[in-house]
Amino acid sequence: MAKGPAFTCTACGASHRKWAGKCDACGAWNTIVEEAPLSTGPKALGAARGKGIELTDLATEEAPPPRAASGMDELDRVLGGGLVPASAVLVGGDPGIGKSTLLLQAAASFAQSGLKCLYISGEEASAQVRMRAQRLGLAKAPVALGAETNLREILTTLDRERPALAIIDSIQTMWLDNIESAPGSVSQVRAAAHELVTFAKTRGVAVILVGHVTKEGQIAGPRVVEHMVDTVLYFEGERGHQFRILRAVKNRFGPADEIGVFEMTGDGLAQVANPSALFLSERDKPAPGSAVFAGIEGTRPVLTEIQALVAPSPLGTPRRTVVGLDSGRLSTILAVLEARCAIPFAGLDVFLNVAGGMRVNEPAADLAVAAALVSAREDVAIPPDTVLFGEISLSGALRPVGQTENRLKEASKLGFTRAIAPSRSKLGSTGGMEVRQMADLTAFVGEMFGAG
Ligand code: TYD
Ligand code: MG
Repeated sequence: MAKGPAFTCTACGASHRKWAGKCDACGAWNTIVEEAPLSTGPKALGAARGKGIELTDLATEEAPPPRAASGMDELDRVLGGGLVPASAVLVGGDPGIGKSTLLLQAAASFAQSGLKCLYISGEEASAQVRMRAQRLGLAKAPVALGAETNLREILTTLDRERPALAIIDSIQTMWLDNIESAPGSVSQVRAAAHELVTFAKTRGVAVILVGHVTKEGQIAGPRVVEHMVDTVLYFEGERGHQFRILRAVKNRFGPADEIGVFEMTGDGLAQVANPSALFLSERDKPAPGSAVFAGIEGTRPVLTEIQALVAPSPLGTPRRTVVGLDSGRLSTILAVLEARCAIPFAGLDVFLNVAGGMRVNEPAADLAVAAALVSAREDVAIPPDTVLFGEISLSGALRPVGQTENRLKEASKLGFTRAIAPSRSKLGSTGGMEVRQMADLTAFVGEMFGAG
């Protein structure tokens, strides 16, 4: 095998023979970094065989993994019903978003419900973590605290203490002394994560790794860390908003896309049991450009307000600013409105925002986005008792989406009386809601705004 340095793209994980400014695989710039080479010689895979593994069949009975609940419902739900023993969880998020606070609170909750819990900080001194615990009113929680970045020391400690859960804050500060590169580099992050995950599996210790996210929104270090762990959670929220959302993007032991909602307070994170009420409570009186989307996050219906502002642009290339939604999705919806409904947005700045710092990934939000855009452009408010959902196809047709019944039930619970949904949706019980089913966007725009 050819020897020599290998290079990896930190954005997509592709390997390259040479360093380059741009990754050919994903097109990202300045993401390629050097990696320590694989060892050859006596330890190379071809030179020494392993002992082989034991095989079983699919029918072998496996009891469902027993889970430890923390008592923080929002966290337990995102984990799929509690922490699975010997599992590895990665919690990613922007620096300063509140990861350390969340995990210290989680550690205290787990410890108070009887789990032996270790919190290792590589970023803050023990005194700082203690001060934070005091501020959060958790100083009495039986959490064992350590401040260390050398993984050799940490693994020895874990082996001695045998906790049920070890929290490592953060994976970017951890380093192995047998790898000659700086903490936070791709090889260190990857190797440290590998050691910790292997330790979790072989010794039956659950580990939670904290990972910082880069500007591009990926966990620094290669994607491979996400592949190694059982569960990947993202802690997200807009700066300046008090809401924080813990979102499962991968979960081997439960549904992905589940969210937990928290509110930042002076005494730490408070759980939000009914997020719809909270997101909508910020709503002003009905105004053009606002539409309420009846969404589903994981297993839970969540109502959010989509806000749009459309204004004449002084710029040659009008602005398209999106917060909380995919900007590609906005471009598509604008193009469909223009091509199928003859509502042009050329020469207009468009600002789109999900209220409350929520992020919406569901395609079912398309109809509410289109409604907010047209409402803002035509300066006509959508009736305040109406929720919307439905996916828009490129032809302008409205596609049915899942879980209609749950969406309607939640909307009804929050005092809405009317819903606009795609035709062909399986309605089931409407919970007393008046449901108007529409086949395409043109019909919707014509009926709601008399335009198009
Ligand atoms: P921190 O948990 O340190 O963020 P991270 O570990 O993701 O970098 O939180 C950042 C700051 O926000 C910290 O100064 C504490 C403050 N904070 C609160 O005051 N209340 C809260 O509920 C949270 C989550 C954070
Ligand atoms: Mg931190």
